[in-house]
Amino acid sequence: MRAETDAKLIIIKELSRGQFVSGQALAELLNLSRTAVAKHIKGINTLGLEVFSVKGKGYRLAEPLSLLNEEKIRHLYRHNSTITLHHVIDSTNAHLIRMLRETNEVSDGYTVISECQTHGRGRRGREWASPYGSHVYLSRYYQSQDGLSEAAGLSLALGIAVSNCINQFIEGTAKLKWPNDVLINDKKVAGVLVEAEGQSDGLCHLVIGIGVNINMPNNIEIDQPWTDVKSNTNSNIDRNEFVARLLREIDKIMITFKQNRLETLYSVWNEMNAYEGLLVTLSSGKEQKQGKCLGIDDTGSLMLEDELTKRIFKAYGGELSLRKAR
Ligand code: BTN
Repeated sequence: MRAETDAKLIIIKELSRGQFVSGQALAELLNLSRTAVAKHIKGINTLGLEVFSVKGKGYRLAEPLSLLNEEKIRHLYRHNSTITLHHVIDSTNAHLIRMLRETNEVSDGYTVISECQTHGRGRRGREWASPYGSHVYLSRYYQSQDGLSEAAGLSLALGIAVSNCINQFIEGTAKLKWPNDVLINDKKVAGVLVEAEGQSDGLCHLVIGIGVNINMPNNIEIDQPWTDVKSNTNSNIDRNEFVARLLREIDKIMITFKQNRLETLYSVWNEMNAYEGLLVTLSSGKEQKQGKCLGIDDTGSLMLEDELTKRIFKAYGGELSLRKAR
């Protein structure tokens, strides 16, 4: 299994320049038959990378790939926390949770990044599209003494960190959709998933998962309006630089959040609220609530103002969907 993964990685590296590489050259490099190379290429396609095969020329990726590099990230981040880079993993959140349960290697700030996730987890049981070498999939561990209820507030705070990072790379401005979506021009570019384990009001373990679309390959299908960072800038994006900056933004937000939760951050969130003042519908299962979006309060609850009665309804969870303004 390990050798198979290694062979795929070697092939991906060879193809990452975006030029044709012949099947024969790959076979010689790996000491494998050309049939075995062809099998690995099929496997690479299942990781979300589009590899073209042209008779007489060999294999080529749709576009060049700049791969993540653990050393480079550490150097750019200039901090002393543990960062581990994986190539293929089921889910960085799931991996970190397993590590927590099975080892004692995980301490505050422990970070897992992967080039690809085979079972990337989104909110509400959704799948998070995680093609190889295209985006950022990152999970980080924090310990809390304040119980599980901290998770919801933390994920709101992290949305600010993710937006602040994205804004350093794009021409426009990334905004937030309650509770955890980051949008550019109303299309989702990133999401946050905080998974918590432990006591409701004591020691608990928080695994924060962040996925950011950087450069979506053409062959990926997603069932909601999406965008990526690359489509919102004319510059090339170095994902190593992006990860380092994201980690720094997370650090900054964590300092404020640990000191006073959302006490100051809620107004920052509200300045980034994509739906501020708009008529929205909040759906939770079959239930729906409509009102003017007033942003969040200092507990992280979403406030909707009823159009007729002007009474304010507060929501603690659910799926927000925007209804067209009349
Ligand atoms: C959402 O649905 O908006 C949340 C998406 C969170 C995706 C990230 S990618 C890194 C981490 N590992 C996972 O399996 N999910 C999160």
